Amino acid sequence: MRHFTNVKDLGNLKEAVQEAFEVKKNRFAYKHLGQDKTLLMLFFNSSLRTRLSTQKAAMNLGMNVIVLDVNQGAWKLETERGVVMDGDKSEHLLEAIPVMGNYCDVIGVRAFAKFENKEDDYQEKILSQFIQYSGRPVFSMEAATRHPLQSFADLITIEEYKQKERPKVVMSWAPHPRALPQAVPNSFAEWMNATDYEFVITHPEGYELDPKFTGNARIEYDQRKAFEGADFIYAKNWAAYADPNYGKVINTDRSWTVDAEKMALTDNAYFMHCLPVRRNMIVTDEVIESPRSIVIPEAANREISAQVVLKRILENL
Ligand code: CP
Repeated sequence: MRHFTNVKDLGNLKEAVQEAFEVKKNRFAYKHLGQDKTLLMLFFNSSLRTRLSTQKAAMNLGMNVIVLDVNQGAWKLETERGVVMDGDKSEHLLEAIPVMGNYCDVIGVRAFAKFENKEDDYQEKILSQFIQYSGRPVFSMEAATRHPLQSFADLITIEEYKQKERPKVVMSWAPHPRALPQAVPNSFAEWMNATDYEFVITHPEGYELDPKFTGNARIEYDQRKAFEGADFIYAKNWAAYADPNYGKVINTDRSWTVDAEKMALTDNAYFMHCLPVRRNMIVTDEVIESPRSIVIPEAANREISAQVVLKRILENL
């Protein structure tokens, strides 16, 4: 594998999950692969899990790691070509990218949707430029439209916990005070559609995601109906995708918060969320603290998903 930006880059998902289970049994078995290799992790946006889990995965593989927070300590970067740079941005991404490529063997990039222009966000302008100009393998640590390391960890977690060959997985919108990108729900939908699970998406009207990601998933506007018989509830907020409300919060209805009464409609479902999560907006204390909440093992699997991706990239260097 050269680059990792979406589910297709991983090839056969069953094989990828098996590889994840093997890595999890002995995470230091491939330490030789990363010897004298350097990973540059570049953050345009904040992170806790991605930063720590990817760094740990790289260390498990014997890599050296450099972490750069672009907005803290680096020159402010211009990302648009043709701009007269007479403002506060001192350096252009078109120089910065190849320079950074000289200092490393692999690059991980986190660059969220800016919600300024839908086309720019959905063309993945920043991630694409890293792939085009760095001369290095590039992997997404959450881009404008997808978060594939998270979705891979989610899939590994479902495979570990599922008690039916074909579980019912429900992704539910839940309220949040601020506008959040669609990357996690887009990506989760894309990955669930690549399995043979029963996959249902529930959200209020106006929160329809890009059909490119939701595919043939059942869309159910009645959250309670969607929850009936579910084996996994995957809660997430996202801002509106459809025009004219792209990137806006159009609903904060707390009747969509995942609570114990709704979880009781499921088939004793596990509760999942990518974290960070706002308690008592997205999910009640009671549900996230319940024995059916698997948010912590889900986050722990971020190390495993990152390690499989880095392992495959290193094997192809
Ligand atoms: N789930 C996730 O990507 O967490 P961070 O934003 O903390 O990295």
